[in-house]
Amino acid sequence: MISIINLSQRVHGINDRICDVLQKGLAARNVGFRYITTRDLTIRPCTNCRSCMQSPGEELGTCPMSDDMGELVRSILDSRCVIVSAPINCYDLPSIMRVLLERMSIFCYWPDESYSPVIRVMQRSIKGILITTSALPGIMVPLVTRSRKTFKLFAKPLKMTRIDYHHFGFKGRKVDMVLTEKDHRDLMKILNQIAAPALNA
Ligand SMILES: Cc1cc2nc3c(=O)[nH]c(=O)nc-3n(C[C@H](O)[C@H](O)[C@H](O)COP(=O)(O)O)c2cc1C
Repeated sequence: MISIINLSQRVHGINDRICDVLQKGLAARNVGFRYITTRDLTIRPCTNCRSCMQSPGEELGTCPMSDDMGELVRSILDSRCVIVSAPINCYDLPSIMRVLLERMSIFCYWPDESYSPVIRVMQRSIKGILITTSALPGIMVPLVTRSRKTFKLFAKPLKMTRIDYHHFGFKGRKVDMVLTEKDHRDLMKILNQIAAPALNA
């Protein structure tokens, strides 16, 4: 299963268009997927209560808040590949990513006596793909934004070892809200890679 997670708050924006192409492409290749838009989920900020981090072992901690975070985590852990599609906002991934990172404390063991958390040991092999859209040219995104560093924080507890980055630039103006021929070619490459037999094994 593939999870496509769209972090954009904007309906019918460029990330929605990218995710439409990905969904149609995966369906055409008979690859099972789940499409998640975080704007449609209720994911509350972490309250720093730390209760999810008190029990040792492999099992994920339990958050006392009941919202859609549990379902999102289950979907990610069921996936062999997770694609995150996100606008660059204020030189980073959008703020919902910070909320996700804090709520991912369930992946850590951090007893009250200890200075720092330890990530729970779990055997997993999830491929990660980060797609960003930005007003900046794509080539500038790794240089002047924190997006890759932030994505690595997300990838670490999930034990995502293989990460690919795709930065779609010049998407800042109203007239840029279309996918170019080159964008379509890049998306086809992503789709063909995901559908390749080696990754399906
Ligand atoms: C609040 C806000 C902050 C933004 N910050 C940046 C930025 O730091 N760098 C950049 O290149 N583009 C920035 N942009 C432009 C967005 O990245 C661009 O409009 C986005 O890729 C559109 O995606 P969407 O249509 O899915 O929302 C910003 C846009 C907004 C609304």
